Amino acid sequence: MTSLRQFDPEETWLEKSVTLGGHRVQNRLYRAPLLECAGTNSETVETLIADLEPAAEAGAGMIQQGATIVREEGGCAAPGMTRVADPDFVETLGAVTDAVKQHGTSLAIQLEHGGLRSMEVWHDAYRRANPGLEQLAVSRPPWPLRMLDRLGILDVNPHVMSTAEVRELAADFGRAAARAVDAGYDMIHLSGANMGIIQQFLSPFYNRRDDEFGIDPTVGAGIRFPELVAEEIQNRAGDVPLLTKVPSEAAAPRILRPRLDDKTAVHTCQRLATAGYDAVVPVRCSVFWDMSIVRGEYPGRGWRDEAYRPGYVDAFGSRLRAAAVAAGNWVQSQQYDFEPGWNADLCRQVRQTVDIPVLIEGGIRERSQIDDLLGDAADMVGMARPFYAEPKLPARLLEADPDVAVVCNNCNNCAVPQAAGEAGVCRTPSVLERAGELRRQGAYDSES
Ligand SMILES: Cc1cc2nc3c(=O)[nH]c(=O)nc-3n(C[C@H](O)[C@H](O)[C@H](O)COP(=O)(O)O)c2cc1C
Ligand code: SF4
Repeated sequence: MTSLRQFDPEETWLEKSVTLGGHRVQNRLYRAPLLECAGTNSETVETLIADLEPAAEAGAGMIQQGATIVREEGGCAAPGMTRVADPDFVETLGAVTDAVKQHGTSLAIQLEHGGLRSMEVWHDAYRRANPGLEQLAVSRPPWPLRMLDRLGILDVNPHVMSTAEVRELAADFGRAAARAVDAGYDMIHLSGANMGIIQQFLSPFYNRRDDEFGIDPTVGAGIRFPELVAEEIQNRAGDVPLLTKVPSEAAAPRILRPRLDDKTAVHTCQRLATAGYDAVVPVRCSVFWDMSIVRGEYPGRGWRDEAYRPGYVDAFGSRLRAAAVAAGNWVQSQQYDFEPGWNADLCRQVRQTVDIPVLIEGGIRERSQIDDLLGDAADMVGMARPFYAEPKLPARLLEADPDVAVVCNNCNNCAVPQAAGEAGVCRTPSVLERAGELRRQGAYDSES
C-alpha cells in the first residue's frame, strides 16, 4: 500500500485536486456509492455507463460505483447487485472504466459481501427461488436476529466461518480487487458500513469470535479481517489506492448492545490507516439495515404506488407483511430524522487523528456547507441520493456560488422500490420537474 500524508491537508477548496494513495483526483467532489441495479448480465455495462458517465461528464472528481459482490454465489444484499467473481464478466467492465475515465474522473469500485445481511434472509421470492442458502456468519447471530427468525419475520440460516474460511473470504476480496484493477478501476472501496460482512467483523454486536478475527481489545473492533483484506488486495492487485467506509453504530437504539461507538470508530480509522488504507469514510449507522444511513422522510409515495405493490409482495411475502415493513419504515423515519451533514462531527474527530484523507457523506446538500466542511471535517465531500435526481450535479456545484443547493428533498421515494427490484432513479415528480427546468436553463451544460 501507499505511504501516509501524500496529500496536502491545507489545500481544501472543492475545485483543487487531492491525492489518494498516490493517485491524483481532479477535485474533491465525489458521487457516493448508490445501488445501480445493473445486475450481472449482458446489459450491465450499458446500465452502469448510463448511470455513472453523466457525473463524470459533469466534472466529478471521483465516482464510487455501488456495492458489488466478491463471490459467484450468495452475499447479495438487494436485488440487481453486480457480482465481480467471473473474470470474463469483469473484463467487460473495462468499457465502463473507459467511459468514466475519458472525462478525467477517477473511478472506484466498492467490494462487498452481505453475510447475515444477504437477500434470502428478508426477500421471500428470492429465498423460494434459491432454497437452502446459508449465510456466511462471523459468529452465532445476535439475539434480535434469532428472535426475528423465530417469529418468521426473517429467515436466518447461518454458517459460522472457520478461521480458514475467513482467510478464504479475505482472499476473495483480493481476487475481486485484482480483476477490477485489470478492468481499469483506479481505486478499491470497501463496503465497511452497510451492515455487510466487514461491519459484521468490526462490530462487537456480531463478532464474538475467539480466534485472531475476534474483537481486538486494544481497538474495541474486529480489526484483523479488514487488515487481512488490505494485505490480500496488496498481494493480488498491487499498489492500488484502498478506501473503506468505517462504521460508528452510535445511532442504533440503546437496547442493541454491545456496539461500535464513535470512539471505537476513531480508533478503527487509526488502525486502518496504519494497515495501509489510503482514505476512510466514517459513517454513523446502526447495527441493522435501517434508515440510519439514508436519513430523511418516510417514503409514502414509494410505498403507496400500485406499480411496485407486486414487487413488495414478492419481497415480503404478502400484502400484510409489506404493510408491516412499511410501518417499521415509518417508525425509523421518526428516529432517523434528516440532519444536514450528519457525519460531520465524527469525521472531524477522525481527521484530527489520521494522516490520510477523510471523506464525508450523508446529508450534504449545499455548496456553502461543502466549503465549510472541507479542511475542517473532511478532505473530500460526497453525495448519493442527489445524484439520482441530478445525474450531472457536479456541473452545478463546481465553480458555483455559495447559494447553490441540490434539488433532492430526502423523501427516500427512490430507495424503497429497490426492494421490489426497481431501478435506482429519482421517483418524485416535483423534484424531477425542478431538475428538468434547470436542464432547460443549461445548468448542467459544463465542459468536462
Ligand atoms: C438507494 C441507495 C443505495 C445505496 N447503496 C450503497 C452502496 O451500494 N454502498 C454504500 O456504501 N452505500 C450505499 N448507500 C449509502 C450512500 O452511499 C450514502 O452514504 C447515503 O445515501 C447518505 O448520503 P446522501 O444523504 O447524500 O444520500 C446507498 C444509499 C441509497 C439511498
Ligand atoms: S426520490 Fe428523488 S428527491 Fe427523493 S430522495 Fe430520492 S433522489 Fe432525492
